[in-house]
Amino acid sequence: MTTKTLALVTGGVGGIGSAICEELVQRGYQVLANYHPSEEARAKDKQKAWKNAGLDIGIVSGDVASFASCTDMAKAIKEKFGTVQVLVNCAGITRDKTLKKMEEADWAAVLHVNLDSVFNVTKQFIDGMTEAGFGRVVNISSVNGKKGQFGQANYSAAKAGMHGFAMALAQEVARKGVTVNCVSPGYTNTAMMQAIPEDVLKQIVAQVPMQRLAEPDEIAYVVGFLADKRAGYITGANISANGGLFISF
Ligand code: CAA
Repeated sequence: MTTKTLALVTGGVGGIGSAICEELVQRGYQVLANYHPSEEARAKDKQKAWKNAGLDIGIVSGDVASFASCTDMAKAIKEKFGTVQVLVNCAGITRDKTLKKMEEADWAAVLHVNLDSVFNVTKQFIDGMTEAGFGRVVNISSVNGKKGQFGQANYSAAKAGMHGFAMALAQEVARKGVTVNCVSPGYTNTAMMQAIPEDVLKQIVAQVPMQRLAEPDEIAYVVGFLADKRAGYITGANISANGGLFISF
């Protein structure tokens, strides 16, 4: 059991997820990075690299698209580490296609991993947070959940849904010291970008007022801010970090 505040980051060995783990561990949290059971080798390598860099980050297996798998993961975490008080729902995938070409499987995979996961994981830990009188839930949404994106009917719907969830849950747990927010990154320098055709990505970056991708640590910094005890009056918010790609109020 830990005396530090325990944080769990889903998709924690991915591009943005691993930067969030690093931000949180440097801020003094005990951090667990969740990974999909099929990515055990990658997760172990990542953990080794963290260790070599002097960062003590745990890894926990669990398929966030499966409620049963999340229940097992939560049980193991509670037994070994205690109550998760900071939860970052970061696991996500893309299956970009125009709706004309999108198969039911493309829709289902993206909705299961990006949106159902938020229920599957948050449900495991929210009571622990309210009982402790402190908690932080941060969903990693997307600029494309706010503005929509050509070829992303599935992803845009899931990412918008994450914020609907956050706005509702924020009201349910506000009295118990638990905040629920979203961070909506713009296009970020991770492996996810490799699925975008080069010419399309170039056109997208040209539309970003900052004329560049975000770096993962620029997204992680916002998560660190929201996780902080001093951010206790911010709830139900959706904070953009998109280089000006979509400016709204
Ligand atoms: N707006 C309007 N029309 C567009 C368009 C756009 N943005 N993009 C393409 N079109 C047009 C094309 O010009 C083409 O027109 P014609 O048929 O008249 O020639 C038509 O739509 C079909 O385009 P494609 O042939 O390119 O269609 P495709 O099926 O081969 O590819 C796609 C479509 C897979 C969606 C591809 O355009 C693509 O990958 N786009 C990028 C999607 C994207 O931004 N994904 C973000 C991933 S990263 C992420 O999601 C992280 C995050 O949170 C930001």
